[in-house]
Amino acid sequence: MHCYTRQQLALRNGQDKPEIWVAFQGVIYDVTSSRLWKNGKHYEHWAGQDLTNELKDAPHTEKVFEKFEAIGHLQPDDFNSR
Ligand code: HEM
Repeated sequence: MHCYTRQQLALRNGQDKPEIWVAFQGVIYDVTSSRLWKNGKHYEHWAGQDLTNELKDAPHTEKVFEKFEAIGHLQPDDFNSR
C-alpha cells in the first residue's frame, strides 16, 4: 500500500481536494462516498487527519471502517499513536 505523509492526508480534508480521507491506527481510509463525511466533517471531527485517539469519543467502534477501502498508510513518523 502507498505511504502518505500527514501533509498529503491534510489535503484530503473535504475542502481542498475532492477526496475525503481519514486515518485510523496508521491506515488511511477513503470515506468520500459516505454521506456522513460530507465536505469532510463528521459531527465535530474533520477528515484529513489521524483520528485514532478520537474514536473513544464516538458512539461506535472501528467496525465503521469495514466497508471503506484502505487506500494507504500514514507515514510511521507521522502516525499519531500517543
Ligand atoms: C462525537 C464523535 C462521533 C459521533 C457522534 C459519531 C457518530 C456516528 C454515527 C451516528 C454514525 C452512523 C451510525 C453507526 O455506524 O454507528 C457514524 C459512522 C461513522 N463514523 Fe462516527 N462518530 C463520531 C466520531 C468518529 C470518529 C472519531 C471517527 C474516525 C476515527 C468516526 C468514523 C466513522 C465512520 C468511518 C463511519 C461510517 C460512515 C458511513 O458508514 O458512511 N466517527 N458515526
